[in-house]
Amino acid sequence: MLQQLEELKRNALQELESINTAKELEPWRVRYLGKKSDLTKVLRTLTALPLEERKAIGACANEVRVSLEGSLRQKEQALREAELALSAQEEHVDVTLPGRSLLRGHLHPITQTLHEICDIFVSMGFQVVEGPEVDWDYYNFEALNIPKEHPARDTMSTSWVDFETDSGERPMLLRTHTTSVTSRVIETMRPPIRVVEPGKVYRYEASDATHTPMFYQIDGLVVDRGITMSDLKGTLYEFARRFFGEDRKVRFRCDYFPFVEPGAEMAIECLVCGGEGCRLCGNTGWIEILGAGMTHPEVLQRGGLDPEVYTSFAFGMGIDRLPMLRYRIEDTRLFYSSDLRFLRQF
Ligand code: DAH
Repeated sequence: MLQQLEELKRNALQELESINTAKELEPWRVRYLGKKSDLTKVLRTLTALPLEERKAIGACANEVRVSLEGSLRQKEQALREAELALSAQEEHVDVTLPGRSLLRGHLHPITQTLHEICDIFVSMGFQVVEGPEVDWDYYNFEALNIPKEHPARDTMSTSWVDFETDSGERPMLLRTHTTSVTSRVIETMRPPIRVVEPGKVYRYEASDATHTPMFYQIDGLVVDRGITMSDLKGTLYEFARRFFGEDRKVRFRCDYFPFVEPGAEMAIECLVCGGEGCRLCGNTGWIEILGAGMTHPEVLQRGGLDPEVYTSFAFGMGIDRLPMLRYRIEDTRLFYSSDLRFLRQF
C-alpha cells in the first residue's frame, strides 16, 4: 500500500510537471485530489485496517496529499506569472516610443492680421498703444467734434452702458471706433507722436455676412511740426504697398469725418476682379479700406496741442475685411463662430 502511494505521488508530480496551461490544472486536481481519486479511496479504506497499519498508511497518505496540494499551488502561481509576462509581450509595450504631443493652438486669423499691420507701422517708426473698450462719450464723440445732437452719431449705433449721472445722462459706452484712443493720445502724449491703436469696437447692430456687433479696427495718429497731407498719402501708400503687394492700385478720394479736415477715403483695386467690377466691389472695381484726414484743429486744441504749431494726420480702418479679402471669405461671422474646422485653415 505504501509503495502504491509513493507511485501515485510520483505519477501525479510528473504529470503536473508537464502541464503548461492553467486550464489543465483543474482536471489534474480532480484526478489526484478529488473525491473519486485513488488517494481519497486509500484514505477511506483506512478505517478497515488494523491500528498499526492505519497509522503508518494514514500518515503517508496525508503526507502525499499535503505535498500534492503544495505543488499544485506552486504550479498555479508559476503559470499565472508566465501568462502575465506573455500578455505584456503581446501588447508590445515599447517604452522607447515618444509620448503623445500636446495639442497646440495658433493665433486667430484676425490677430495675425493685426500683428502684421502693427509690424508694418512699427517698422515706419510708429508705436502701438491701447485704450479702454468701455469709454466715456467724451473720448468717443465729444472730443472728436461730434457733440450730442450731431448727425454723425446716427451713423454709429452705440451700445450705451446702463449708468446714469445725477443729471440723468448716460456718459459711458462701448467704444464705436478706436478713434477714441486718438482722443486720449492727443490729451496725454506730446509731439512728436506716431502711434497706431488697434482693438475691438462695438456697434449695436444685428449680425449678417458683413456685420458683427463686435469687430476690430486700427487707428493711427501722427502729430508734429510741419506734417502735411503728403505725409498722410506717403505713409498710407507705403502701408498698402506692403500689405496688399507692389502692384495693387490705390485711390484717394474726398470724404467727410467730423474730426478731420480735409477728410479722405482710401480704396484699393478690387482683389477679385482686378478693377473690372464684380459682386464683391459692387461693380465699382474699388474696395474702400480706410478713412483718413488732417486732424481738425479744434480736436488738437481740445487736447492741449496748439494747431498753429503742430499739424497732424489720422486714419482708421476695419481689420476684419482684410483677411476676408485675402482669403476670399464671404461671411465675417465665421471668424467669431469658434469653429475649429474653419480656424485651423490659417
Ligand atoms: N473712426 C472712423 C470710423 O470708424 C474711421 C476714421 C476715419 C478714423 C478718419 C480716422 C480718420 O482716424 O481720420 O468709421
